[in-house]
Amino acid sequence: MTVALYPGSFDPIHLGHLATVEFAARNFDEVVVAVLANPNKSSGMFGAAERVRLVTEACSHLPTVRCVHFYGLTVALAESRRADVVVRAGHKEHGIEWSMAAMNQAMTGIPTAFAPVDGRTRGISASLIRHLVQSGKLAAGLTMVPTAVGPALVEKAAERL
Ligand code: PNS
Repeated sequence: MTVALYPGSFDPIHLGHLATVEFAARNFDEVVVAVLANPNKSSGMFGAAERVRLVTEACSHLPTVRCVHFYGLTVALAESRRADVVVRAGHKEHGIEWSMAAMNQAMTGIPTAFAPVDGRTRGISASLIRHLVQSGKLAAGLTMVPTAVGPALVEKAAERL
């Protein structure tokens, strides 16, 4: 039984995240998507519970995937969940992300698997989506998220009116 841990902020989950979850579900028996709930980070769009809900709904077609929230270090969560691997998006395999993967493996022996880069989603980021929604470009943001996330984005856009 292999367990993959996919940590991230997921604020909100988007199509690039979903492609990475689907990669993990194809390659490992169980996937734990872990939403970082950082009480000190207040600049986001959705609270931790809402992000977990959106991830859960967006991944409801994948029976081996579940979503939790976490505080603290990814390595601590990976060990407590007995993860065999940490999963991250392929286009992040450089710089600080590569260093984090190397450091995590040095500390725990748990490697990071980078999902293949997908040309259709590599330009998408949660910060871009938040920026679009906050700038009145909801329609553009909606093209970048799973359908389950649409209503929540629409609500956020309405709040700023
Ligand atoms: O979606 P993101 O924002 O790119 O995810 C970043 C995340 C949550 C994976 C990263 O910030 C993280 O692992 N945070 C938990 C704290 C931690 O383990 N930091 C490692 C540096 S020592």
